[in-house]
Amino acid sequence: MKPRQLLDRVQLLGAIDWNRRLFDSLIPLPDGTSYNAYLVEGSERTALLDTVDPAWEELLLQQLAQVDRIDYLVSHHCEQDHSGAIPRVLELHPEAVVVCSLKAKALLFSHLGIAAERIRVVEDGETLSLGDKTLRFVHTPWAHWPETMVSYLAEDRLLFSCDLFGSHLATSNVFASSEPSAMEGAKRYYAEIMMPFRKPLVSHLRKIRALEIDWIAPSHGPIYDRPEEILSAYEDWVSDRVSNQVVLPYVSMHGSTQAMVTYLTAALVERGVEVKPFELTTTDIGELAMALVDAATVVIGTPTVLGGAHPAVVSATYLANALRPKLRYAAIIGSYGWGTKAVEQISALIPNLHVEVLGTVLCMGAPREEAFAALEALAAAIQEKHAGL
Ligand code: FEO
Repeated sequence: MKPRQLLDRVQLLGAIDWNRRLFDSLIPLPDGTSYNAYLVEGSERTALLDTVDPAWEELLLQQLAQVDRIDYLVSHHCEQDHSGAIPRVLELHPEAVVVCSLKAKALLFSHLGIAAERIRVVEDGETLSLGDKTLRFVHTPWAHWPETMVSYLAEDRLLFSCDLFGSHLATSNVFASSEPSAMEGAKRYYAEIMMPFRKPLVSHLRKIRALEIDWIAPSHGPIYDRPEEILSAYEDWVSDRVSNQVVLPYVSMHGSTQAMVTYLTAALVERGVEVKPFELTTTDIGELAMALVDAATVVIGTPTVLGGAHPAVVSATYLANALRPKLRYAAIIGSYGWGTKAVEQISALIPNLHVEVLGTVLCMGAPREEAFAALEALAAAIQEKHAGL
């Protein structure tokens, strides 16, 4: 990809990674991703904002080949998919000074060996003049690392947001308004990356709202040319509002837990509650994470194997706990052969989920009348709780 002109002397650089299918050896990337870097040329100084994943370093260097001078290299975030090419850019541009937050200074040294004398620390609200263009830095700690910040190009009303508002989406459409998957990609990204930091994001969004923004340029995915859409979506996702939805991750080994899931799903639907079941041996955990953004209730379904919950259920429960969704209610259902520690195990895995437990329905072997009656009662309890949302 060649550099693409966004605005007067503001270029989009970086790579579209069409074929990457896993991030952090954890997050599925069904739609690939991109690593966006930006070049801002003021009348007196030039700034490069972030770099790319090391796998795409050569492409970035080609894109910069015609750039004589880089005065500032702004590092919004030290994770390697944005900082990985900083050392090579600094080698080729000995004049360049890295601009970052104080916390980033230590991280850039420990992760990439960038020497302190190449770094200029900027405070929250500090500005950097490039001549007729000015960058203002806004610290946004824990979006999603402790050092993260964004920058605002005042003259162009453009916010460079790095991971914040990003999406793992490979697309040749530069702007989100031309990309049908943009908002779904953004929600998935929020669920996987930003949701654990919902509380700090509330105040960051307030600070960002105080800026006059026409464009939001993240470091993954398309650029928002209608910023209101993504800002209001984030405000909704980080709010305490939950929806009349049950997320139901489960595994079944011999069909008994599946029968319980099928029964409960029908009982909830009959009561007007939306249900999203996820069979965990085949599910994309990104889809599960996305469903957890809004849902009021999670019901975890597990068979018993090796005396406890199925490992796939343990893994999904651990992940849900780490993602800290705004769930209000939970329940556990499942079947066992002769004995089980599944409920104790699952309960111990969710200390971050401040949920009211609405009950457990466990049965030995195949579910029969008694288990179905208990599932009916669980569905009624969920309906009653959701009526007050
Ligand atoms: Fe896109 Fe936190 O790195």
